[in-house]
Amino acid sequence: MKVAILGAGGHGKVVLDLLKATGEIEFAGFFDRNCGRLKQPELKIIGSEQDLINQWRDFSVDYAVVAIGDNCIREKLYRQLVNAGLPGLVLIHPRATVSLESRIAPGTVICGHAFIGPGAVIGENCIINTAATVDHDCIVADHVHICPGVTLAGEVKIGMNSMIGTGANIIPGIRVGNHVVVGAGSTVISDIRDNVTVVGIPAHEVAGRKGGLQNFSESFYQSTSPAKDNGHCRGRCQS
Ligand SMILES: CC(C)(COP(=O)(O)OP(=O)(O)OC[C@H]1O[C@@H](n2cnc3c(N)ncnc32)[C@H](O)[C@@H]1OP(=O)(O)O)[C@@H](O)C(=O)NCCC(=O)NCCS
Repeated sequence: MKVAILGAGGHGKVVLDLLKATGEIEFAGFFDRNCGRLKQPELKIIGSEQDLINQWRDFSVDYAVVAIGDNCIREKLYRQLVNAGLPGLVLIHPRATVSLESRIAPGTVICGHAFIGPGAVIGENCIINTAATVDHDCIVADHVHICPGVTLAGEVKIGMNSMIGTGANIIPGIRVGNHVVVGAGSTVISDIRDNVTVVGIPAHEVAGRKGGLQNFSESFYQSTSPAKDNGHCRGRCQS
């Protein structure tokens, strides 16, 4: 089985490491919009994301993973891949613990030391990042990013395209809306409505820079500055 990775940034490296750890998946190469300018010879960058989407059969690829932390960009590329006929797959790091009683949809990546409890349901094209816990009976919608070290206690619901920042905690039974950003290290103890950023302990709404991050993803994607690659994980989709 040959798998391509879209995005040669930090999360791309994490996904490559995961592929290698499985010991049974062949890495087809990275596809990244900065393919002409990224000067890292150790990276096998074959072309741009659009090269893969438009000509994936020419690259003898069986599956592709979109390894971009930004939910909006990841959703856009994932949809384009699926529409082009290239399927997503569920990728689980061999050192993740995933209950046999959980369900995980295609396109989703479960990173090393993550825990997925019984009864948990995880949607398409999500990232359950390093050492994150999604405990029993949680429901995580499509295109969500659960960042490293997050703890979702039992029966938490996360709406589509939401990002739960590094090290955040959410107590049992909480509902987090769609397109929500939960700040790093926050503790969520009450339900969160759609399209807001919350931070702190206990978490409360903040406006954020320039009135929020709604426009961040698109402008980021159009950017030509490789230096901005490191900001991948911050955006929220335009609603
Ligand atoms: C929540 C977050 C997205 C806010 O970013 P932003 O919209 O640019 O907002 P700002 O930096 O302008 O901060 C707005 C306010 O919230 C506060 N704030 C921001 N992040 C916070 C956090 N994690 N915890 C507590 N307060 C926070 C700021 O101090 C600021 O407060 P002020 O208005 O009193 O000065 C960002 O700080 C964050 O935590 N991102 C998570 C990143 C992450 O985990 N990435 C993982 C990659 S794998």
